[in-house]
Amino acid sequence: MVTLLENPFRTGLQQDRVPAPQILIIFGASGDLTQRKLIPALYQMKRERRLPPELTIVGFARREWTHDYFRDHMREGVEQFGSGLGSEATWNEFAKGLYYFAGDLDNPESYQNLKTFLSTLDEQRGTRGNRVFYLSVAPRFFSEAILQLGSAGMIENPKKQRMVIEKPFGRDLSSAQALNRVVKKACDETQVYRIDHYLGKETVQNLMALRFANALYEPVWHSAHIDHVQITVAETLGVEGRAGYYDKSGAIRDMVQNHLLQLLCLVAMEPPASMNADAVRDEKLKVLRALKSIHPGNVNELTVRGQYTAGAANGASVPGYLEELEGGKSDTETFVAIKAEIGNWRWAGVPFYLRTGKRLAERVSEIVIQFKPAPHNIFNEDAGRMIANRLVLRLQPDEAVSQMIMIKDPGPGGMRLRQVALDMSFAERFSVRSPDAYERLLLDVIRGNPTLFMRRDEVEAAWKWVDPIIAAWEEAGVKCRKYTAGTWGPSAAIALVERDGRTWHEEESIG
Ligand code: BG6
Repeated sequence: MVTLLENPFRTGLQQDRVPAPQILIIFGASGDLTQRKLIPALYQMKRERRLPPELTIVGFARREWTHDYFRDHMREGVEQFGSGLGSEATWNEFAKGLYYFAGDLDNPESYQNLKTFLSTLDEQRGTRGNRVFYLSVAPRFFSEAILQLGSAGMIENPKKQRMVIEKPFGRDLSSAQALNRVVKKACDETQVYRIDHYLGKETVQNLMALRFANALYEPVWHSAHIDHVQITVAETLGVEGRAGYYDKSGAIRDMVQNHLLQLLCLVAMEPPASMNADAVRDEKLKVLRALKSIHPGNVNELTVRGQYTAGAANGASVPGYLEELEGGKSDTETFVAIKAEIGNWRWAGVPFYLRTGKRLAERVSEIVIQFKPAPHNIFNEDAGRMIANRLVLRLQPDEAVSQMIMIKDPGPGGMRLRQVALDMSFAERFSVRSPDAYERLLLDVIRGNPTLFMRRDEVEAAWKWVDPIIAAWEEAGVKCRKYTAGTWGPSAAIALVERDGRTWHEEESIG
C-alpha cells in the first residue's frame, strides 16, 4: 500500500487557515461566468468550510434584479453547474450573504452608492472594510471599472482591497500595456490578480509538485535527456455562441497567449527558490523572454493555422466555423500549432510543439515530455524495438500521470522488451473530488496568495512573443487550412512534427 507522506506544499500554497472576513464584489454578476463558475465554486468552498463565515458576496450589474432574484438565480447555477446543494441549511446560510446591487459601470454615482452599501454590510456582517473586486465584465469595460474604483477611493488600500481581472488581458501588447497603465494608476501591483484559470487546475499544479518535490526528474530535465515537449489543449466544442468575441480573437489570442504559454513556462522554468509568488513568477518570466522569435521568414515553417469545416463532434454532425458565424467570411483560426523554442542553456535545440483547437477529435489536454532514447542497445534483434521513455501528464479529462518505461515481457520466452505505463490516475488513487480551477483560484485571492496569477510583466512578455507571430501571418499571407470538425486538425499540423521525424502523442497511442 502507498503511504501518503506529509505534503511540503501544504505549508506554502495550501494553508488551511480560514481567511479574513471580506466582501467579494462581482462586476458583471448577471453574466454566465458568475452563475456557472464563480458562485458554484464559492458555494463548494462554503460546504467544505474553507470560507470565513462572514464572507459576503455582492453581485454588481446593470439589470434591476432584487437580492432574492439574484439568490434564486445563483441557486439554479449551483444546482445545474456545481457539485450539488448539500443541505438546505448550508444553502440558506450562504444565501444570506448574497446581495445584489444594480449600477452602471461608467457612472460615478453608482460607485459612491456601492461604497455606502458596502460600509453598511461591513457593520452588519463584520467584514471590516476588506474587499475583493472581481471584474467579470466584457474586456472593453475593464479600464472604465478600474478607473472608477480608483477615483471613488475604493481600491487605495493594498492591505484591504484586491482586484481580480478576468481574461483576456488585452488583445495585443499595446492594449495590454495600456490596461496595465490604468491598473498602475488605480492601485498597487500587489493588489492585482490576473486570472488564467489553467493555473488553478489540479494537474497543472501537480507539475510543480512532480518537478520540485521529487529529486528524480530535475537532473534529467534538460536538452541532454529530453528530445522534445508536446503541449496539447484539444476541445470538441465549437465556438458555442461566442463567435462575436472569438472571431476577433482566434486560437492564438484565446488559448496560446495565456493557457498554453503558462503551461510551457511551468514545464520549462528553472526551479524557483521557494513557492513565493514573485520567486515563481520571476522564473516564468525568464522563460517567456527566452522564447525565440517567429517572423515572416520562418512563420510558415514553424506554425500552422486551421479553421474547421462541417463534420462531427461526439457522434453528431456539426456545422463549420463559417456557418456558426452565420455565413460570415472569416480567416480567423480555430486551430493553431506552433513549434516553439526556448533560447537558453537548458532548452537549446529542444522543440516545444504547442497545439490547440476547437472541434477536434477528442477533448484532451496533456503535456508530453519525450525523453531521448537509451544511448546504447545491448539487446539483440529478438528483443524488439527499444522505445524512448515518455512522461505524460494528462490535465483533463481523467487527470493522470503516466511514465512510460521499458520492461521485459513476462514469461519464459527469452528477453523480449515491451513498453508499459507506470500510471497514476487521480480518480482511481484518491477518493477526493478534483476541485474546479476557480475554487482554488478564488480561495487564493481571498487568502491573498498571488502565486497562481499573472504578473504585469508576464502578460506583456507573452504578448511580446505572440504579436510578431500574428504580424508575420499577415505579412507572409499565412492563411487558415481547413480541417473537418472531429479530426485532429489540418494535415499540415501533422507534417509540422513529422518533418522533424516525430509524431504527435495520440497517433503513437493509436498506432
Ligand atoms: C477559455 C477560452 O479561456 O478556455 C475558451 O476562452 C476555451 O475558448 C476555454 O474553451 C477552455 O477551458 P477548459 O477549462 O474547458 O479547458
